[in-house]
Order: sequence, then C-alpha cells, then structure tokens
Amino acid sequence: MKKAFITGTTGQDGSYLAEFLLDKGYHVYGLTRRTSTQSFARIKHLIHHPKLTLVSGDLIDQHSLTYAIQRIKPDEVYNLAAQSFVAASWEQPVLTGEFTALGVTRVLEAVRLGYPKAKFYQASSSEMFGKVREVPQRETTPFYPRSPYGVAKVYGHWITINYRESFNIFAVSGILFNHESPRRGLEFVTRKIANAVARIKLGKQQYVELGNLESKRDWGYARDYVKAMWLMLQQDKPEDYVIATGETHSVKEFLQLSCQAAGINDWHSVYKHNPAYDRPAEVDSLVGDATKAKKKLHWQPSISFPELVKLMVEAELKLEAKTED
Ligand code: NAP
Ligand code: GDD
Repeated sequence: MKKAFITGTTGQDGSYLAEFLLDKGYHVYGLTRRTSTQSFARIKHLIHHPKLTLVSGDLIDQHSLTYAIQRIKPDEVYNLAAQSFVAASWEQPVLTGEFTALGVTRVLEAVRLGYPKAKFYQASSSEMFGKVREVPQRETTPFYPRSPYGVAKVYGHWITINYRESFNIFAVSGILFNHESPRRGLEFVTRKIANAVARIKLGKQQYVELGNLESKRDWGYARDYVKAMWLMLQQDKPEDYVIATGETHSVKEFLQLSCQAAGINDWHSVYKHNPAYDRPAEVDSLVGDATKAKKKLHWQPSISFPELVKLMVEAELKLEAKTED
C-alpha cells in the first residue's frame, strides 16, 4: 500500500487530494496544525476513514516535519500548506514569507533528512507570472511576481528545483493557475461572488462589494487539478508543469454568469465597488498554456467555465437555503 503525506490537508486542494488518494488505496497522512477551534470542515466526511491519519505539525516547526517524515516514510509528499490569500500577503508579508517560502525549505529538509526516497510535490502558482512577460504563460515564461505571496512562491519554486539538482530528490513543481470549487475559502473572489448571489437570491443580503472587476484569471475546477498533482509524481522523471484551462475570464464575467445561474436579471443592481478590495499591485490577466501537461501527463480539464460557475452557485444556493444567519 502506498503512503502519502499531505501538508495543507484541511485546505481546498488538500481535502480533494486526500479523497483522490484514498480512492486509489493510499494510506494518507495529513498534517494539521493546532488551533483553538478545529478547521476540519472540508475533511469531516473523511475523518473516520481507516486509511486517513492526521499528524500534528506546522510549517514553521522543522522538528514536527522531520519527525513526521522519518516516522511515516511516505512514498509521496505533497506540500500544499501555505498562507495562500494574496491580499493578506501585504498585511502579513513576513508570515507569508515564513510559511509560503521558507516552509517549502523546511518540508524539503524533512524529506532530505527523514526519507530522501520520497517523491515531493510543491504547490507553485501562476501568481509567480504576475506582470506577465508572455501570453499565454508556460513553463519557460520568466516570473514577475506582484505580491509578497507571489515573491514567496517564486522562492518555493526555485528551492524545489535546487533540491532536485543538489540532492537528486524527485522534486517537482506544479505551476497551477486558479482553481475553484464549493470548498474554496469565502475570501477568494469566485466563492465570495457565488455565495453572495445565492444569499441575494434568498433575500439574506442586498449586494456584493468587490474590488477590481476587470482583472482576468484562468479559472479551472479544483478536483481536476489535484489529479494533475498526482500524475506529476507518477512520471519517470521529475519535471515542472503548468496546469491551466487555456481560457481567461474577467471577475465581471464571473459575476454576470453567477447572477444568471441564480436567476438575478440585472447584475449591476447587486454590485458595489469597494476600494478596500483593490490591491496595492494587481495581476491584470493570467492565461496558461498546459500543452506540456496534456502531452506528457494526458491531463485535461473536465468542465467548462460556465459549468464551473453554475456548479459553485448551485452549491451555495443549497448551502444557504439550509443555513440560518
Ligand atoms: P487553502 O484552502 O488556503 O489551504 C491552505 C492550507 O494550508 C490549509 O490546510 C491551512 O491549514 C494550511 N496551512 C497554512 N499555514 C500553515 C502552517 N503554518 N502549517 C501547516 N499548515 C498550514 O489553499 P488551497 O487553495 O487549497 O491551495 C493549496 C496550495 O496551492 C497553496 O500552497 C496555494 O498557495 C497553492 N495554489 C493554490 C491555487 C488555487 O487556485 N487554489 C493556485 C496555485 C497555487 P488551516 O486549515 O489550519 O488554516
Ligand atoms: N479576493 C477578492 N475579493 N478578489 C477580488 C475582489 C474581492 O472582493 N474583487 C476583485 N477581486 C480580484 C482580485 O483583485 C484579483 O485580481 C482576482 O479578483 C482574483 O482574486 P482571488 O480570488 O483572491 O485570487 P488570486 O488570483 O489573487 O489568487 C489565487 O490564485 C493564485 C493562482 O494564480 C489564490 O488561490 C492563490 O493562492 C493562487 O496562487
């Protein structure tokens, strides 16, 4: 039986990846950090699975990581934990660097010292392309990060390559473009919009306050993207891959389609601009070229942009209909 160690198990991607690997028969060890209230909402349906073991630790605590990997001897390590909210990275730039940048080195050190045979996956990001140098962005496109988060991810990306080249560790970096789902955190724009339009439809809220409606993202479905992570670790050679849909859409389009899916005729009537959500430096437009992943991993997205929006709005309508404020 294969063993996988996931950091960030309680997050959007970690929960889908845990499900995916358990279905494949893996024993999954999920790192969780100690908090005064538990953050197990996304994995509550898996908690009693006989092949899921939760392991206590933190990206900032080297010993907890090294000890876990020494003990578990995992075949695969997925480093998904991070301070992942771009807007928060200007408010907490040092913490973002500690978790999102140095945290990667700590997990790599744990692999190097604890079990160097483990294959390692790093959750890199299209945010590294920032002020884009090329359209569409591919594996060879130079980086120009525009946030402390993006800068931290560039560090994580290069330290992963460095450990591959220095210590011969099977370490890969997946450069994933935005991927969404009903399990997305409420602070991210897609879930924020999907949830708000559902609440507006049900009479629980009047409007949604947003920042820049013109920025564009290459939005895919999170379930498809965790499969790509796994595929990268099943290859003979460790290589880095871009994972994206190849389509870009604006925040405004996401809002329009969400209103349509909820049966709200005029999106202008439910939207207000709030400059508090504008960013000090914006990533205006991202669109990825996943040709390499399509060719080598035989990976492709399973749903379209309108299907993704509909799926998210329908999930929020169900959720909000059964929850009281
Ligand atoms: P997410 O929902 O925000 O999950 C982040 C996870 O990291 C949570 O489980 C969180 O635990 C954990 N974490 C944060 N700080 C930690 C620490 N100091 N020690 C241990 N665990 C810690 O993020 P996601 O959307 O699933 O993304 C997964 C990874 O992919 C992240 O690295 C993100 O930066 C990257 N990424 C995401 C996307 C995307 O579009 N989703 C695209 C490219 C790259 P708690 O539950 O305790 O907070
Ligand atoms: N969050 C948020 N809230 N974003 C808003 C809002 C708002 O009210 N209004 C407009 N936006 C715009 C942001 O300015 C940004 O251009 C875009 O919506 C997307 O913002 P987020 O959903 O917060 O995602 P992100 O693109 O900054 O970052 C996500 O994708 C990265 C990959 O490119 C995160 O998942 C990162 O962890 C990930 O690496």
